[in-house]
Amino acid sequence: MTDRFRTIIEPFRIHSVEDIALTDIDQREAALRRVRYNLFGLHADEVTIDLLTDSGTGSMSSSQWAGMMLGDESYAGSRSFFRFKEAVERLTGMPEVIPTHQGRAAERILFTETVSSGATVPNNTHFDTTRANVEYQGGEAIDLVTPEGLDPENRDPFKGNMDLERLEVSLDDPSTTIPLVMVTVTNNSGGGQPVSMANLRGVSSLCQKRGVPFFLDACRFAENAWFVKMREPEFESHTPAAIAAEMFSLADGCTFSAKKDGLANIGGFLAMRDPELAERCRNLLILTEGFPTYGGLAGYDLEAIAQGLEEVVSESYLRYRIRSTEYLAEKMSAAGVPIVQPPGGHAVYLDAKRLMSHLSPEQYPAQALAVEIYRTGGVRGVEIGSVMFGQPGPNGDEVPAPMELVRLAIPRRTYTQSHIDYVAEVVIDTAARAREIPGYRITYQAPWLRHFTAEFEPI
Ligand SMILES: Cc1ncc(COP(=O)(O)O)c(C=O)c1O
Repeated sequence: MTDRFRTIIEPFRIHSVEDIALTDIDQREAALRRVRYNLFGLHADEVTIDLLTDSGTGSMSSSQWAGMMLGDESYAGSRSFFRFKEAVERLTGMPEVIPTHQGRAAERILFTETVSSGATVPNNTHFDTTRANVEYQGGEAIDLVTPEGLDPENRDPFKGNMDLERLEVSLDDPSTTIPLVMVTVTNNSGGGQPVSMANLRGVSSLCQKRGVPFFLDACRFAENAWFVKMREPEFESHTPAAIAAEMFSLADGCTFSAKKDGLANIGGFLAMRDPELAERCRNLLILTEGFPTYGGLAGYDLEAIAQGLEEVVSESYLRYRIRSTEYLAEKMSAAGVPIVQPPGGHAVYLDAKRLMSHLSPEQYPAQALAVEIYRTGGVRGVEIGSVMFGQPGPNGDEVPAPMELVRLAIPRRTYTQSHIDYVAEVVIDTAARAREIPGYRITYQAPWLRHFTAEFEPI
């Protein structure tokens, strides 16, 4: 494409189409009552634009679909596994590659082998499954993102960075056992914000000096690499692949959900350098996921992921990807809707604490906003606030999450600009009525990851 034109176009054309549901407000109201105001309970056919997650919801390329026809379904030693392993090794430089059915399976295996009761795992911000898997082993998951990362209005370019001073204090605290340190790129639960290479180097060096392994939660490594290219002068002339390679070179291992920057609908992996830990992880893999050359995946899934890992570091794809998220953010922000600034890579996060300041955290303002956006226009986002991250307090009360956000996650290569224009219109209309939106109370909750199945009623 010539540089003379400003418009950043989708670097693909549509090859196959899928109908979407166009519903009216009465249908949406009935659906909300039926699912007790939990948007996870909706049937996909009740949703017009589904921004619940960018995980596994993207469109695969014709090369990925073609690659699936080459899937080798041998139980052991499948050709597709070796293609997958080679792609992961090329990307990460890590020789031990363990396929898993998705990211959380990699987390569960890693933490079962490394975290024991009373141990502490620092992260910039743990994703919900990461936190839950640490806590399930009896460990404590602590979030050490920099203060800038907790201020939705702060425009720091790397708001996913780990607070290195607090990490050092934790690492040197003799009463704390730290089996590993994680950094999530990009920082999903903190607004999809990137982590700089300088910060990754800092974490790596602190860990190395103390012999503590450093793992990346690498779900969105390519989006992070693009931000590094755009915002860290040292890397402006590097390719995204070279930047990604450098990020991985700083780590001892990683967990990965291929449903994000693997551009696949399912899959993941655990990769590392330590052969002894890898052997223990593989034994556990066999117990619950499958033989180490398929790890709960079909041969055709391994092919799709191997191809996806090659496509995701394309500059034209990443330029379009990050720009299309920014485009939605700019439209809403220009209309006065408070959002986390600057916008992250895979999603725009609405700041419900500011927009819905008439509601207290116990009234779940972000849940209320997400429900109202669906009611208004059939757009499904997800609450990332006190429903997801509220913690039990000392007196049976609840300690609210630091931020009350609604995440509008953009599936990869799926929606066009007019879909995104529609989303902006729906959100702007909803925000104009924010003060009239009621809060919610929880009427049912599960002991783990309650946001998936909780039931609510309007207050
Ligand atoms: C940062 C992060 N880590 C881990 C996971 C878990 O991956 P999966 O959904 O494949 O289990 C996700 C999924 O959204 C994520 O965003």
